[in-house]
Amino acid sequence: MKKSILVTGCAGFIGSNFVKIFKNRFPAIEIVGIDDFSTGRKDAIEKSIIFYKGSILNKKLLAKIFSKHKPEYVFHFAALPRVSFSVENPVLTTEVNILGTVNLLDFSRKFKVKRFMFSSSSSVYGGAKYIPTKESENFPDPQVPYAVQKYDCEPFCKIFSQLYSLDTVCMRYFNVFGPGQYGDSPYSTVVAAWLEALYFPKDKKAFIEGNGKQSRDFCYVDNVVDANIACMLSKKPLKGICMNIANGERTNLIEIKKLIEKYTGMKLELEKRASRVGDVMHTLADINLAKKTIGYKPKVDFLEGLKRTIEWFETR
Ligand SMILES: NC(=O)c1ccc[n+]([C@@H]2O[C@H](COP(=O)([O-])OP(=O)(O)OC[C@H]3O[C@@H](n4cnc5c(N)ncnc54)[C@H](O)[C@@H]3O)[C@@H](O)[C@H]2O)c1
Repeated sequence: MKKSILVTGCAGFIGSNFVKIFKNRFPAIEIVGIDDFSTGRKDAIEKSIIFYKGSILNKKLLAKIFSKHKPEYVFHFAALPRVSFSVENPVLTTEVNILGTVNLLDFSRKFKVKRFMFSSSSSVYGGAKYIPTKESENFPDPQVPYAVQKYDCEPFCKIFSQLYSLDTVCMRYFNVFGPGQYGDSPYSTVVAAWLEALYFPKDKKAFIEGNGKQSRDFCYVDNVVDANIACMLSKKPLKGICMNIANGERTNLIEIKKLIEKYTGMKLELEKRASRVGDVMHTLADINLAKKTIGYKPKVDFLEGLKRTIEWFETR
């Protein structure tokens, strides 16, 4: 039987980038994908994969996929990932983000998956106390349903390792951006939203909240993909460890505006809005734990990532 992996959320931003890179690095491994298109796009699905349209809440479908393909590794990207959507829809997002994950963990242990890669989020910190944010010094303090849901899945991953010997790992991604991230949703990150407004001005207007000095640790999507692959390749058991996956550097909004204008040659008009209540001023990750554990090193820095993202917007 051909070796295979399961990629959930393969029609989404990170999942579709993961599939492209994985396919090139491991052409002999079969990629099985599942997505229900709640936020994902049909045109993001790589033609060569075995694709199942459906929900991670559908246990019948999961039973069929696991028994037919027996994936060796599971990369779990599927989620309803937007913070404001989770505030408006706490029940639905809890079902998908927690129950969907536990469903997958349960099938993974029954079918003896070698390792389960979970996409967690920096939002679990809820405005970290210390910057750069180190996992051991910042106890999670989730402030919105989405963050609670991501946070709850972390101890679930850990106990599946302890109770059932399913090896698991939780990666807390910080502000991921890159090609394939559309800026037309009200929940887009600032890079995608501003580029969308620049390239599709009829459909989207860009705005800035507060004084623009807020900074974020923006992580280019290929670095997140690399981290997932490094977890898969790790020789050591990971036992549900939670690690920051980020760039390890921060950029403020004013700098981003200047860089976008420089590389696109266009002027970015931003409507000024008041600061959002509760918005954190800065995010910056300490990435040493991921370095030590899986040899993680962000290969694409913010500038290079921004250039590649602009190139993608130009081809759209
Ligand atoms: N993008 C970021 O900055 C970021 C940061 C931290 C964590 N994450 C996490 O990374 C993962 C991927 O995020 P993304 O930015 O690619 O989001 P995305 O919305 O582009 O992708 C999520 C995918 O999951 C699919 N999906 C949703 N519900 C499903 C269900 N019930 N069954 C099957 N598929 C379902 C969607 O259709 C979509 O294709 C998510 O788990 C997200 O929480 C993302």
